[in-house]
Amino acid sequence: MADHHSINTILITGGAGFIGSNFIPYFLDKNPSIKVVNLDVLTYAGDLGNLKEVENHPNYTFVKGDICDNLLVKNLFEKYNISGVINFAAESHVDNSINSPRQFIKTNIEGTFNLLENARTFWKGKNNRFHHISTDEVYGSLGGNGFFTEESNYQPNSPYSASKASSDFLVRSYYHTYGMNVVTSNCSNNYGPKQHDEKLIPTIIRSAINGVKIPIYGNGKNIRDWLFVKDHCRGIGSIYHKGKAGETYLLGGNNEYDNLTIATKICKILDIKIPKKKRSYKDQIEFVEDRLGHDFRYAIDASKVSKELSWKANESFDSGLEKTVDWYLNKYQL
Ligand SMILES: NC(=O)c1ccc[n+]([C@@H]2O[C@H](COP(=O)([O-])OP(=O)(O)OC[C@H]3O[C@@H](n4cnc5c(N)ncnc54)[C@H](O)[C@@H]3O)[C@@H](O)[C@H]2O)c1
Repeated sequence: MADHHSINTILITGGAGFIGSNFIPYFLDKNPSIKVVNLDVLTYAGDLGNLKEVENHPNYTFVKGDICDNLLVKNLFEKYNISGVINFAAESHVDNSINSPRQFIKTNIEGTFNLLENARTFWKGKNNRFHHISTDEVYGSLGGNGFFTEESNYQPNSPYSASKASSDFLVRSYYHTYGMNVVTSNCSNNYGPKQHDEKLIPTIIRSAINGVKIPIYGNGKNIRDWLFVKDHCRGIGSIYHKGKAGETYLLGGNNEYDNLTIATKICKILDIKIPKKKRSYKDQIEFVEDRLGHDFRYAIDASKVSKELSWKANESFDSGLEKTVDWYLNKYQL
């Protein structure tokens, strides 16, 4: 890692997205001697409104730009003497990758490559950290039993997960080929404040309170493991500082739920918080045709990160879900 006596400036990409905008305030707070440059092109998924709490922070700088832009990234490394990278920037929505995969290939693969290559040439063998944020979706789909571990085979099924898998392999290759100090963390579905409206949990909340149908793919039995975004941020912080070079860490919430159960839980919370006369929000649930490329089940065995870095998810699903519902109700001014 970089010299502790100099001020470290790290490049965080995609910091205006869901996880990045939860991570940056957390990280600045925990690391008063680290400066953060947030590079984000502000696609539809980026929202600087989610970073209001840090916009005047002395250790925070925002730069609007594309991680695929070689000259821009090169200039940023030089201008800010970047000594670490955490790469959140990505096209992240599976459904969009099914409709129009091209931008996923560009940002997720070429963009990650551009960051790696600029880090390699600027750092010239220095032991600086490059932390790549990835997903458990690279491992494909599980049946009814078993868990993904760091040893699981990569079997990506959607253009999104294939593009993330490709970027993970590029990161791995920079460790094996150039000895770069890389780590990758693959985590399960995040939920919590600041997630884009297009994703499952915000869609359930929004549809419920707007009185329209709550769309659930297939028979609602697809299972995901859910990780509260603030637990994820803590995990990333410890992996960035203490993870072993060249290693992968899986982060999961130990919260396996199918989509129908989640919709039902949210409806129950809403029934209490903003009751409707004689009806439950769950009457609005409707099944819609599932999409190709959607996996049946993801579940994570997070024992490596728990043993090596003493990380575990703290938030219970019920309390995390209630905090999430409260955040959206506040956003929608209800
Ligand atoms: N959300 C999840 O449940 C989840 C789970 C596992 C892994 N991940 C991974 O975590 C990372 C962050 O996910 P998220 O949910 O916060 O995503 P998000 O879609 O909410 O945010 C992505 C951010 O990246 C920015 N961005 C996109 N293309 C860019 C480009 N070419 N240059 C610069 N910025 C660009 C967007 O403007 C946005 O601010 C992604 O790499 C994703 O694959 C997410």
